[in-house]
Amino acid sequence: MKGLLSVRELGPDELRTMIKEASGIRDLIDRGEDHEPVLQGRCVANLFFEPSTRTRLSFELAAKRLGAHVLTLNPATSSGSKGESLRDTVLTIAAIGADVMVVRHVDQGVPQSVAEWTGLAVVNGGDGTHEHPTQALLDAVTLWRHFEHFDGLRVGLVGDIAHSRVAGSLVPVLSRLGMDLTMVAPEGWLPAETPHRTSTDLDAVIPELDVVYLLRVQTERGGRITDSYIGNFQLDEHRLARMSQDAVILHPGPMNRGVEISDDVAESSRSLVTEQVRNGVPTRMAVLRAVGWRS
Ligand code: CP
Repeated sequence: MKGLLSVRELGPDELRTMIKEASGIRDLIDRGEDHEPVLQGRCVANLFFEPSTRTRLSFELAAKRLGAHVLTLNPATSSGSKGESLRDTVLTIAAIGADVMVVRHVDQGVPQSVAEWTGLAVVNGGDGTHEHPTQALLDAVTLWRHFEHFDGLRVGLVGDIAHSRVAGSLVPVLSRLGMDLTMVAPEGWLPAETPHRTSTDLDAVIPELDVVYLLRVQTERGGRITDSYIGNFQLDEHRLARMSQDAVILHPGPMNRGVEISDDVAESSRSLVTEQVRNGVPTRMAVLRAVGWRS
């Protein structure tokens, strides 16, 4: 695999293989065993031009667990603040010795540009409102480990779909794996065209779902938090009580408690949010392993 810019590069069989590999790595980590250092001597550069906690730190640990060296750029203290262009910055980091770059940027398409400029393996760590491939993969790993199958799982994607790069990757991944998607949002946040079911009425669809996947309102990308949104779409204890008995809650984080999820529901045993985070490192190990030793 030469980088991972979009989940659309992965067909159903490749997705299933990657998910099972990531799940196997998770088992290994849980047993307290080390992974073979297959990226020994390689260098993974984390270039996060937008804030991140989960993605940046889990890529860092994933690279270290595979034996790679890790470079982490801090945009606030790097020479971009003195006027260096993005292209010059990434070419400089390539010349320093990076073999793989993980790139997050506010603008769609920057990871693709970095791949073209450097010729290196680039993993998209989230670009604008476009895609967040490893988030969708770790979510699929989480569902696989919980349900032990994908076929026909009824997943409701709830919230700010319009501004969400997580949705940009999650929709193709979950549908390629055979899940049944319903997009649930206020009218303005639903896609204009989609082959999937849409609804503006969370209360009507919530009893039918196996998975309630909540999205953060992306205020940094134009999403607006309103009382009407909170009243009609927040997953609170009343809506939780109407979910099917075995249904679970996912959220990519960071959660806006009191907006898309209430405090008590965030702490509920039905939430797999911590599992999602735990699956982040093994999933990123599987991705780095796939791209790192051929780049
Ligand atoms: N889910 C996610 O991308 O979180 P971070 O912004 O903390 O990386």
